[in-house]
Amino acid sequence: MLPSREEAQRLLREAENCNPGPWGEHCRVAAQCAEKIAAHCPGMDREKAYILGLLHDIGRRFGVKHMGHIYDGYRYMTDLGYGEAARICLSHSFPIQSLEDYIGRHDITGEEEAELEAALAHMAYDDYDRLIQLCDSVAGASGVMKMEDRMADVKRRYGSYPQEKWDKNLELKRYFEEKTGKELYALLFGNATES
Ligand SMILES: [Fe+2]
Repeated sequence: MLPSREEAQRLLREAENCNPGPWGEHCRVAAQCAEKIAAHCPGMDREKAYILGLLHDIGRRFGVKHMGHIYDGYRYMTDLGYGEAARICLSHSFPIQSLEDYIGRHDITGEEEAELEAALAHMAYDDYDRLIQLCDSVAGASGVMKMEDRMADVKRRYGSYPQEKWDKNLELKRYFEEKTGKELYALLFGNATES
């Protein structure tokens, strides 16, 4: 089940009040990107893409955490009955389908990590998982960024960026360029939403 657009927006506002920060705007940018790209992908639902983009980092409601934001978001959405959003809270951080390459602290218990690992292992990624992974990698807090710039920024802040993940993000970009028939940045920076 998926919340409505309005309910998702309300959940995000409420979460920002609990833990204010630029992450809320990052979610809005990711949502707008997801909607724009989905609108040009045959068979994808732009409304669903927007809602999933908006909620992918909702776990930040519970404080400043690394892997913890994934676990918290996954649990929170699951508890509200929003399974599709819960799935994205988990999959968005793992273009490579493993917890191993996570950039940041593993600040959850071993039991929680095992729970995420098991859930991740059972997933067959679909285009919504791939879409939000892509949008997460181009969404800055004040607008769309080139993926290379955002990855370089993460590398600066965390000290490293796994080459495999870097390559995977570029692969996602190519994947959606093929699906939409458009160059990604032309689509995102341009005015091509209405179709
Ligand atoms: Fe994000």
